[in-house]
Amino acid sequence: IKKIGVLTSGGDAPGMNAAIRAVVRSCSYFDVECVGIYRGYQGLIEGDFEVLTARSVRNIINKGGTFLKSARSKEFRTVEGRAKAFQKLKDAGIDALVVIGGDGTFTGAIYLEDEHGIPIVGIPGTIDNDINGTDYTIGYDTALNTVVDAIDKIRDTASSHDRLFLVEVMGRDAGDIALNAGVGAGAEEILIPEEDMGVERMMESLEKSRKTGKTSSIIVVAEGEKSGKNIFELAEYIGEKMVDYDIRVSVLGHIQRGGAPSCYDRVLASKLGVGAVEAVLRGESGVMVGITNKIVTSVDFNTAIKGTRPLDKELRRVLTITTV
Ligand code: F6P
Repeated sequence: IKKIGVLTSGGDAPGMNAAIRAVVRSCSYFDVECVGIYRGYQGLIEGDFEVLTARSVRNIINKGGTFLKSARSKEFRTVEGRAKAFQKLKDAGIDALVVIGGDGTFTGAIYLEDEHGIPIVGIPGTIDNDINGTDYTIGYDTALNTVVDAIDKIRDTASSHDRLFLVEVMGRDAGDIALNAGVGAGAEEILIPEEDMGVERMMESLEKSRKTGKTSSIIVVAEGEKSGKNIFELAEYIGEKMVDYDIRVSVLGHIQRGGAPSCYDRVLASKLGVGAVEAVLRGESGVMVGITNKIVTSVDFNTAIKGTRPLDKELRRVLTITTV
């Protein structure tokens, strides 16, 4: 392997820059040329490349977002798009790829590798923490801290005005952000995509708490939760049943994806960036590097993106006990 390409794809996540930096510097350390590919798979199709040296990635370890930019490419989902992308790689003499992203990124990598045989190693970068084969994904820890910080602020108003707040956090298919930030921020109830806890049960529990003297409450709602209502419909529904509650909705949105990465995410990204280049140089392909019990391990892309990860049942129990 003489030349490795690196790209970030899908939703950006804090720590992606630290991962790129580690990939570029590992290439430098092992005497391999590194090429940055801008705008994910779309930039790959268009040949939007730049040679990166160890100095190209100075002063980025602390920056949110991704300096290589990211995209969700429709064209790359086609056989023709991937053929164009492979041709660009061939023309540039790139003989392996490191892709940083989530399940969509790894799905694209599976196709590209199957159709064209180019070695690809993935790094999990997504705030969702919804990837198998790694204890944590890059960006998740920072996002959790952002959410907890935001809910702490909302709590001030909830408490001052005796209000019930519904706070929406990201996670279309995974409740990790909701569950962990919810427990960390002292939420009363947490609704997640993985299980339907029932809106009626939730309202009963809110009533019970009120009878014991609770005057304000926070409910954390993951985007993909199971009630079948969006957060505004949910607030309206609760408002119709519990007429004397003063209810407000707060959608945190993309603030969860931005900001300087936490120390944890920087260290994780650095470990996985080095691990990915070492995996490529060992001849591995079609795998993602992840962290399990602090050790960098490889897992094939299909395992990384398929199947449901077990829910942290203990956290549910802790929530029930601590919100009594
Ligand atoms: O996968 C990361 C994520 O932030 C999800 O939590 C969220 O549902 C989605 O991306 C939002 O995507 P976009 O930025 O394209 O609206």
